[in-house]
Amino acid sequence: MATEEKPTSTETASNETTITQILDVVARAAPEIRAGLPGRRIYAEQNNPSGETPMEADIYADEMLCERLGDLDGVGEYASEERQEVIDTGSGLSVCVDPLDGSSNLKPNNTLGTILAVYDAPLPAAGSDMVAAAYVLYGATTTMITAYDDTVTEYVVQDDGEYEAVREDVTLPEDPSVYGFGGRVPEWIDSFTEYVREVESDPSMKLRYGGSMIGDVNQVLTYGGIFAYPTLTDHPEGKLRVQFEGYPVGYILETASGRSSDGEQSLMDVEKDGLHARTPVYVGNEELVERLEAALDD
Ligand code: F6P
Repeated sequence: MATEEKPTSTETASNETTITQILDVVARAAPEIRAGLPGRRIYAEQNNPSGETPMEADIYADEMLCERLGDLDGVGEYASEERQEVIDTGSGLSVCVDPLDGSSNLKPNNTLGTILAVYDAPLPAAGSDMVAAAYVLYGATTTMITAYDDTVTEYVVQDDGEYEAVREDVTLPEDPSVYGFGGRVPEWIDSFTEYVREVESDPSMKLRYGGSMIGDVNQVLTYGGIFAYPTLTDHPEGKLRVQFEGYPVGYILETASGRSSDGEQSLMDVEKDGLHARTPVYVGNEELVERLEAALDD
């Protein structure tokens, strides 16, 4: 990263141009990240800031995105789930990346993703500072969902990095049909368990859970429904990270006319805390998330 060669803040490109460039970098990196996975399905010899042991693929994707996003003139800070500290890359927008969400799915060869959050503020930022969010899904095909300028778009990304919009103005289907809830069931709190039993008793709803948040959220965005990584009896803050997962997923689902919640309020209103702070995450169709909040309140 050539930070010393970057222009000063008054010379930086406009935010709009920078956001387009950021999304372009992520889309074009996606086939390379995907192509790098086969040889990197082993654990790295280090822990990440959350105390988890990443796969070599996590490190590979993080280094690639840090270098390429950090090289953009309009990007001033880079942070990722794999790094303790924020990297100063000049002046401009801040990017937070989960380079490989759901990397425990590498071994069983299930869906993985890359999550991106763009903030117009230094990190850690507040939900209200978010100006764009996106995720790439490495499924049977590589797709990218972006939320920017009040609209959600789905792209298909080709092996050469070219990408094309396949769905514009994406919104959650009105008739929800899927649910996916993470965490060990014995560690769910009673009010959440009761809510889940109620959802399960609806004959139009079926379980779809794959173990990578972004894959599970994308099913909800596609078919309508609800995803949760809830508060747990021994971890009230749940598992997912505010800056890297909670805010961007909340932003995308709310832009797609859904609702997001930490159990009491929109994920976008969750207090910003440390860079690696966690939050319970509940996202999906408005009515399902509202019912959930009421159930947790009882
Ligand atoms: O935060 C990483 C992640 O892999 C999420 O994508 C997923 O929802 C969650 O962890 C699954 O964790 P566990 O299998 O430990 O419940």
